[in-house]
Amino acid sequence: MIPDDALRELSMMLGERLSTGKSDLALHGRSETWHPEMPPDAVAYPTSAAEVAEIVRLCARHGVPVIGWGTGTALEGHGSAPLGGLTVDFRNMAAVLEVRSEDMLVRVQPGCTREALNTELRATGLMFPVDPGANASLGGMAATRASGTTAVRYGTMRDQVRGLEVVVPDGRIIRTGTMAAKSSAGYDLTGLFVGSEGTLGLITELTLRLHGQPEAISAAICGFPSTEAAIQTVILAMQMGLRPARIEFVDATTAAILNAHDGASFAETPHLLLEFHGSEAAVTEEAARFGDLAAESGGTSYQWATQAEDRTRLWRMRHRAYHTILASRPGATAVVTDVCVPISRMGEAIDRAARDIAASRVSGPILGHVGDGNYHAILLVDPTSAAERAEAKRLSDAMVAHALELGGTATGEHGVGLGKLHVMEQEHGAAWDIMGAIKTALDPDRIMNPGKLVRQN
Ligand code: LAC
Ligand code: ZN
Repeated sequence: MIPDDALRELSMMLGERLSTGKSDLALHGRSETWHPEMPPDAVAYPTSAAEVAEIVRLCARHGVPVIGWGTGTALEGHGSAPLGGLTVDFRNMAAVLEVRSEDMLVRVQPGCTREALNTELRATGLMFPVDPGANASLGGMAATRASGTTAVRYGTMRDQVRGLEVVVPDGRIIRTGTMAAKSSAGYDLTGLFVGSEGTLGLITELTLRLHGQPEAISAAICGFPSTEAAIQTVILAMQMGLRPARIEFVDATTAAILNAHDGASFAETPHLLLEFHGSEAAVTEEAARFGDLAAESGGTSYQWATQAEDRTRLWRMRHRAYHTILASRPGATAVVTDVCVPISRMGEAIDRAARDIAASRVSGPILGHVGDGNYHAILLVDPTSAAERAEAKRLSDAMVAHALELGGTATGEHGVGLGKLHVMEQEHGAAWDIMGAIKTALDPDRIMNPGKLVRQN
């Protein structure tokens, strides 16, 4: 709850840019997945870092929880407000501040979305490659260390963020990192805030790396007789030094759903969807070499597309696959898993998950970013069925346990939020206590996104 005097002060500071409307609160408490709606008590729409700092100081004085908000597309309830409080929505801080072409850097405000940035960069020959599917805000993507389909080639947000401006819990505005390509000056605070999920401060500006727009792009689709054949091809391709910009797996169930609900015409077998970036000659050669490898592993129906429209159609379909899968069972919600394992162990991990799901009472198409060893089972459940929810969580926990056994992680891209809190100790052991110690040092009153990431007591 926000005490009345704090709400009055916030209202004086922000005027119309403080909202307590019911639908606005509900919107800021909802999640894309199974997590129940947990609305804040008010939403602030600041326009500058100085204003964010003033908001944070006020909230610190009154012990009010502060939750950052970008576009609300996180899948683990990161932006929800289990203890109420104030959500800080960055939609009015969405500018591209400076494009530094020669340095291949850009400075942006946190509410700028990845698509808006790429539109702005179109004429520069540069691009920002990280693509989690949703048109997420760059601040949110940094806060959750987002990745997605292109991380196999370009890395995750961890690799793109060169520096940050952050409002820390006591209201100071700090800068981490520099414009330089490297630095040996002390702790890597940029790395600490990237992936901190709003629990250590609010990001108010980002300096991001850019990449050259590829001269040529080609996309390919290849069917396989089994998951194992598809995954073996991925491993071989990576070992041979092929550098696909995307290498995505869809299982037979996903292929069937995309056929039935999104106009695709896949054979109902596992598939890999690929994209290559480079010079004309390089993408042609890479696509051909990949085709040879796929054929050796029993791949069928290898088709590639250099037409921009075909590519756009393919990736649009891949990007909305989560929503297409959800819609394939009307009224369903999803428990989405996103374990990530060393790729040598991925085949057995996917096979075990698929067997467990097949023997269970829920359905769970599997797809993922297999060049990174990261994949999703979208476990579809009836939200009113406690038994189905429990079953999906049991399957999810089993996938996590198996991934940890194989040297992997509980979450390759979706983050901890509320959904993976219970496995943090299992994954990190005493290192989770170190995260708690950092949290306590920076945010002793626990006002920043409380209820998330660190041990709750
Ligand atoms: C995807 C989301 C679920 O890969 O991460 O579609
Ligand atoms: Zn994903």
